[in-house]
Amino acid sequence: MTNREQELEKRLNLLVKFGGMIAIETNLNRLLELIAEQVKRLLNGDRCTVFVLDKQTNELWSKVAHGLEHTEIRMPFGKGIVGIVAQTGQPINIKNAYSDDRFSSEIDRVTGYKTRNILAVPLKDVTGKIIGVFEVINKMDGDFDAEDEGMLFLLGSFASAAIENAQLYESLNKSQLETIYRLAITAEYRDQVDTAVHLRHISEYSALLAKGLPLSEKEVENIRYSSPLHDIGKVGIPDAILLKPGKLTPEEYEEMKKHTLYGAKILCNAESALLQIACKIAGSHHEKFDGTGYPIKLKGGQIPLYARIVSVADVFDALCMPRVYKSKWESEKAREYILSESEKSFDPDVVKSFEGVYEQILKIQSLSNDGKTTVIPGITKELHKHTF
Ligand code: C2E
Ligand code: SIN
Ligand code: SIN
Ligand code: FE
Repeated sequence: MTNREQELEKRLNLLVKFGGMIAIETNLNRLLELIAEQVKRLLNGDRCTVFVLDKQTNELWSKVAHGLEHTEIRMPFGKGIVGIVAQTGQPINIKNAYSDDRFSSEIDRVTGYKTRNILAVPLKDVTGKIIGVFEVINKMDGDFDAEDEGMLFLLGSFASAAIENAQLYESLNKSQLETIYRLAITAEYRDQVDTAVHLRHISEYSALLAKGLPLSEKEVENIRYSSPLHDIGKVGIPDAILLKPGKLTPEEYEEMKKHTLYGAKILCNAESALLQIACKIAGSHHEKFDGTGYPIKLKGGQIPLYARIVSVADVFDALCMPRVYKSKWESEKAREYILSESEKSFDPDVVKSFEGVYEQILKIQSLSNDGKTTVIPGITKELHKHTF
C-alpha cells in the first residue's frame, strides 16, 4: 500500500468510527464537544468549532470553541466568516486570515490566539436547510486543501443528523408532539419522497387495525398519535445505507436494524404516556410473532400489542409504496403477503382485524393516490409547508 492509500484508509476508518460515536450521543453539548474533538483530529487542525444556527435570534452560537470553553460565541448571520458561510451555503477556505477582510479578529483579541488559516463549511439538514457551520482553524502542516474540504463536508452530513437528533432529545421533556412529528418527517424524508403520506397511512391503518381488534377508543387514539414515530431512529442511520438504491449487504442490514434501538433510546425517557407508547413501538415494530424478528427476538405476547399492530400497518404500506431499493407492489399482492405471514411475522388476531378493515384501508390508499391527501393529525398545514 502506498502512503497515500494508507492515509486514505486511516481516514476512512476514523470516519466510520466518527459516525458510530456521534449517533449514540444524545446530549447536545457533549455531542458538539465530541464532534469538535474528532474533527480537529481528523483534519489535523489546532481548533474546531461547531456553530449552531439559532433561528430565533438569527445568530450562530457556539459553546465549544477550543481554548475558550465556558464562553459562548455569537456571530450574526451574514457577518464574519461563519456568518457568510451560513448565508451563502458555500465553504470558505482562507490561507491567511489576517489579510482577508471577511475575517473578524475580535475573537483572537479576546483569547490571545493567533488564527492563521481557516476552513469553514456549512452544516445542512436533509432538506438542504442550513443548521450551522463547522470551522477548523490552523492546520498543523500547511494549508487546508480540497480533500480537507470534502472530508469536512462529509463529516458535516453525519454531524447534522446527530445534532438534530440531540436537539430532539433535549426538547422531549416538553413533549412537543409537533416538533417530534417534524423530526419524524425529516428522518424519513431521506428514504422516501412521500414521507408525509406514509406517516399518515401508518397512523390511520394502525388506528383501523386497533379499532377492529377491538381496542378501546382511548387506545385507538393512543396508537393513532404515537405510531408515526415508529421509524424516528432512522435519523441515526448514515445516508450511504438508508439511501442505497440496491440490496443491503448483511453488515449494512445489521446497521439498519439499529434504527429500532436508536428510536427507543430517543423516545424512552419521555414523561408523556403517548411518547412511552411511541418508544415501545419504535423499539419493537420489527419483532416477529414467531420470535425471528429484531432487535431482541421477542415472541408472541412478549411483543407489546401496539407494536404488533404497527408492524402490520408498516409492512403493508412499505410494500405498497416505492422505495429506493424496490418498486411498489399491487395492493392485492401485499394483502396476500400479510395473510400468508399470519402467525409467522404477525399476530393472527391483528391479521384477522386487517382482513376486516381491508376495504377501509384501500379507501385511504386511493385517496392519497388521487392526491386528495389530508394532513396527519397533530401536524398543521403550516408545518407541512415548512418541511417541504
Ligand atoms: P421500510 O422500507 O419502511 O420497510 C419496512 C418493512 O417492510 C421491512 O422491514 C420489511 O419487513 C417490509 N418490506 C419492505 N419491502 C419489502 C419487500 O420488498 N419484501 C418483503 N418481503 N418485505 C418488505 P425490514 O426488512 O426489517 O427493513 C427495515 C428497513 O430497512 C426498511 O424500512 C428500509 O428502510 C431498510 N431496508 C431493508 N432492506 C433494504 C435494502 O435492501 N436496501 C435498502 N436501501 N434499504 C433496505
Ligand atoms: C470569523 O468568523 O470571522 C471568526 C472566526 C473565528 O476565529 O472563530
Ligand atoms: C435484506 O436482507 O437486505 C433485507 C430483506 C428485505 O427487506 O426483504
Ligand atoms: Fe422500521
